Amino acid sequence: MIRMYDIIQKKKEGKALTTEEINAMIDGFTKGEIPNEQMSAFAMAVYFKGMTLEETSALTIAMVHSGDTIDLSGIDGFKVDKHSTGGVGDKTSFILMSIVASLGIKVPKMSGRGLGHTGGTLDKAEAIPGVRIELELDEFQRIVTDTGACLAGQTGELAPADKKLYALRDVTATVDNISLIAASIMSKKIASGADGIVLDVKTGSGAFMKSFEDSLALAQAMVAIGQANGRKMASLITDMNVPTGYSIGNALEIIEVIEVLNGAGPTDLRDLCLELAANMVHLATDTAIEACREQVQTQLESGAAFEKFVEIIAAQGGDVRYLHDVSLFAEAGIKHEIIAPTTGYIAHMNAEGCGLASCMLGAGRQTMDDVIDYRAGIVLKSKTGDFVHAGDVLAIFHTNKADSIASAEELFLKSFEFTTLKADVPPLIYARVTTDSVDILK
Ligand code: URA
Repeated sequence: MIRMYDIIQKKKEGKALTTEEINAMIDGFTKGEIPNEQMSAFAMAVYFKGMTLEETSALTIAMVHSGDTIDLSGIDGFKVDKHSTGGVGDKTSFILMSIVASLGIKVPKMSGRGLGHTGGTLDKAEAIPGVRIELELDEFQRIVTDTGACLAGQTGELAPADKKLYALRDVTATVDNISLIAASIMSKKIASGADGIVLDVKTGSGAFMKSFEDSLALAQAMVAIGQANGRKMASLITDMNVPTGYSIGNALEIIEVIEVLNGAGPTDLRDLCLELAANMVHLATDTAIEACREQVQTQLESGAAFEKFVEIIAAQGGDVRYLHDVSLFAEAGIKHEIIAPTTGYIAHMNAEGCGLASCMLGAGRQTMDDVIDYRAGIVLKSKTGDFVHAGDVLAIFHTNKADSIASAEELFLKSFEFTTLKADVPPLIYARVTTDSVDILK
C-alpha cells in the first residue's frame, strides 16, 4: 500500500515520484483520505526539491481525472483558448476572443475570478450590466456555435483536486513553484476541452514568476504537458513589471477594452492582444504567423472585432448600450488624484503594489466573501519610462471607500521608483515558446 508519509519523505529527499504514487496521492486527497497537513507538507517538499517534467505531467493528469472533463464536441471546428498566468490590468481576453471569433474561429473561453492582486476576467465581464457568465454547458456551446465565442465560469467540477490543493498552497506560501503552477493551470485547461491553447506567461514584479528564466521554464513545462496530451500549444512570455494598459479595476478596464476595439486605447494593450490573437489564429489554421498578424490587425482596424464583441455580449445577456456609450457606466463617488512626489523619470513601478492598491479601493476581494465594487480602481496617467514633474497627476483613484484611500495611496506610491536618468521601458513581449522553439524577442 502507498503511504502518504513515504511520498512526503521521498520528495523531501529530492527523489522522483512514480505515476502510481502521484495517482494514489491525488485520489486520496480528492476523497478526503489524505489530510490537509500532509498535502501541505508535500507542497512544501516540492517547493524546495522540485519535480521532473514526468512528475509534473503525472500530477496534471491525476488532477484532470479528479473531476469532470468538458466535451466540446458539440461545437464544430477547431476550438482555441488562451490563458494568462495572471496580471494587473490584464483585460486581453475580451479583445482576443472578439478578434479571433470575427475570423470564424471558435473561442470557448472559460475564465476565473480575481486572485490576490490580480484581477479576474469573470469579475470584469460582470461589470457590464446583464452579462451572465454562469452558464450550463449546453448554453455555453450554443453561444459559441452561434457567435463564435463565449466567456464563462467553469461548468461542472473541473480538477477539484487542484482547487483543494490551490487553497492550501495559498495559505502555506507554496504558490510560486513552477511545477505546481504548471500542473494547476494545465489540469484545468486540459479538462476544459479546447484543441489549442495559447498561454500568456507573465514575468516581472506583478507576476507569480518574477524572473525571465523561471517564466521560460514555466512556459516550456506547460507547452510540453499540453502537447503530450494532444493539444496544440504556444506560449508568449510577456511583461508584468508594468500594468497592462492604463486602467486597473473592472468597469474601468472594460471601458479600455472598448477603446481598443474602436481603434484607440493604449498601444501596449493593443500590441499584446494582436500578438496573442495571431498565435491563436496560427494554432487554429496553421497559417504562417506573419499572415496571421496581418489578419488580426485587419479585423481590429475594420471594426469587425468590435461588432463581434457586441454580438457575444448580447448573446450573454449584456446590455450593449454600454458598449456603444461608455458614459453609461456608473462612476465611483470619489475621484482622488495621486500627485507625483518628485521630478524625474519613472524607473520602475511595482505592478503588484498597483494591483493591491486597486483591490483596497474596492476593485478586488481581500477575502472570498468580499463584494467587488465594479466602479472602483485606478486610472494611471504615467507609466515606467515617462517623465513627470513634482505635482503632476500620476494616477486617479476611483473609489467609494473614503477610508481606504490613505493606505492605498501609501502602497501605490511605494510602488514607484524615480530617476533623473532616462529610464528603460521593459519589453512588452520577451519570447515565444513552442514545442520545438524558443524565439527570444527581448
Ligand atoms: N493560476 C492557477 O490557476 N494556478 C496557479 O497555481 C497559479 C495561477
